[in-house]
Amino acid sequence: MQDDKYRIKVGLATCGIASGAAKVYQVMQERLKDSKLKVERTGCLGMCYNEPLVEVIEAGGQSYLYGNLEPKDGLRIIDEHIGHGKPVVELLVLGQEAETDDQNFLEKQHRILLKNCGRIDPEEIQSYIDADGYKGLKKALQQMTPEEVIEEIKSSGLRGRGGAGFPTHLKWSFTRQAGGTQKYIICNADEGDPGAFMDRSVLEGDTHSVLEGMLIAGYAIGASVGYVYIRAEYPLAIHRLKIAIRQAEARGLLGEKILGSDFNFEVIIREGAGAFVCGEETALIMSIEGKRGMPRFRPPFPAQQGLFDCPTSINNVETFANVPRILNLGASTYNVLGTEESKGTKVFALAGKIKRGGLIEIPMGTTINEIVFDIGGGISTGKPFKAVQTGGPSGGCIPAELGDTPMDYESLKKIGAIMGSGGLLVMDEDTCMVDVARYFLSFTRKESCGKCTFCRVGTNQMLKILERITEGEGREEDVDLLVELAEKVKAGSLCGLGQTAPNPVLTTIRYFRSEYDAHVKEKYCPAKKCKSLITYEIDTTACTGCTLCARNCPVDAITGKKKEVHKIDPLTCISCGLCVNSCKFAAVTVDSKPRQLV
Ligand SMILES: Cc1cc2nc3c(=O)[nH]c(=O)nc-3n(C[C@H](O)[C@H](O)[C@H](O)COP(=O)(O)O)c2cc1C
Repeated sequence: MQDDKYRIKVGLATCGIASGAAKVYQVMQERLKDSKLKVERTGCLGMCYNEPLVEVIEAGGQSYLYGNLEPKDGLRIIDEHIGHGKPVVELLVLGQEAETDDQNFLEKQHRILLKNCGRIDPEEIQSYIDADGYKGLKKALQQMTPEEVIEEIKSSGLRGRGGAGFPTHLKWSFTRQAGGTQKYIICNADEGDPGAFMDRSVLEGDTHSVLEGMLIAGYAIGASVGYVYIRAEYPLAIHRLKIAIRQAEARGLLGEKILGSDFNFEVIIREGAGAFVCGEETALIMSIEGKRGMPRFRPPFPAQQGLFDCPTSINNVETFANVPRILNLGASTYNVLGTEESKGTKVFALAGKIKRGGLIEIPMGTTINEIVFDIGGGISTGKPFKAVQTGGPSGGCIPAELGDTPMDYESLKKIGAIMGSGGLLVMDEDTCMVDVARYFLSFTRKESCGKCTFCRVGTNQMLKILERITEGEGREEDVDLLVELAEKVKAGSLCGLGQTAPNPVLTTIRYFRSEYDAHVKEKYCPAKKCKSLITYEIDTTACTGCTLCARNCPVDAITGKKKEVHKIDPLTCISCGLCVNSCKFAAVTVDSKPRQLV
């Protein structure tokens, strides 16, 4: 075995670990314990659908990416590839000999922000420094005034990646211009959107890039303290942040007189309890101050009066991680990417009914169809593509017909959706859009802090209407009533939670009105998803009497002897769907029949 001929990397972000990568890492390390060759730790490469992932890089730079591994596969890679120079072809997902189309996942992406994720060791500062880490900070401190840094960010066109897309340079210059000597930087790592994992992945895979962005922002606005507000459900990201802070302090990159300059900066971690509303900046500030996380009226904006009443600039994880890249590349290189008003790239967490789900980075302006089909490989169920949900619970549902829409702030706004922080949920024809609206509203209703009446009462009333529609109790006037309530909740709510909570309802009504009408007027669910409107039956020609459905039914609604056709009692059936999943002969059918009401 030639120790200097290979490098072995194992993806050990939360997603990799959840799919068993830690065990693969452990057995590989064990097998190599007497060798000089070490197995390296890295973050998420983005191909979550192929995890656990192991990359073998040969001395000449040739890379072999192995996926969907079990511990025994890790050992095979060592024995056959490292030991005998023969790649294990059937385990390859990328590499010369690989017969997969996984290359497509990467080809339409443009990795600036994620360039280190899955490449460097996030727990080793030297690994980051070797990949041009802390060069941006050095440049800012040694060659630029704070005003020049803000000007560079302005030329780059960087807009906040936390959801609203506010120009970053404006926020920074407002905070710089505000009076007072004590100012703060806050990194918003709350990431409350269900289905979103961009910020966690960046923090786990390229931790120092976020710290470097915060340092540069601190220098630009004149702050000496930065807080990272991160949900406690992200223990690995917190662990890596703590390591990164310690290592940066030891290298003189955090603390007093950074890199020999007059700039001092410390970073403090504050763990949040995982409340969605605490991602809203004024609620977040309250939470750091030790108070109940509730939004307050603005103005004054945090840039004037924020944390402990001092001028404060709050940015998202991805926004900060972009900053060192912009300083390294130069604004003029960065701003050629993207569209006229939405510059650079955006990271998305691609999830739902998609073949290649994971973390992707694309130039702004890439279309929805390019993401779903070229990068994502199409619909995992093989059924027709129906819609995407952008922007999480506050976003909008975009129908497949609008798949040519470019993903940029303006284009999405025009069609009633928002970019949001980057959750991208793909749906196929089996998805009931009324039920989707009900699901997201049940989330926002539960997460409403209750401070303002429109949000507290309005979301509750809207949810009640949606529930009765999906239960087949919808009234003729309900859809119009929903629209009226939605407009009022949007206009009357104090913070972004209430102002955007109606978006999934409004967009599903706008693009899928016929589904609402079917539920209300015909008591029928076209997608066959709403439990109260569907019936389960056994196809007598397909049933073999294997008894599996009856054994799995939690309420004993299925009867029938072995090798005889089974029967479902509709009055006992709770429409849980376990019989459909357990039947090996596709003999259980689901139906929802339109009813002509008199
Ligand atoms: C209910 C609610 C939840 C939010 N959650 C987050 C979040 O989890 N992460 C985030 O960065 N921004 C979140 N935001 C947006 C922030 O309030 C804020 O605009 C953002 O952190 C600013 O950073 P940016 O300018 O870099 O985007 C949320 C806003 C609202 C109204």
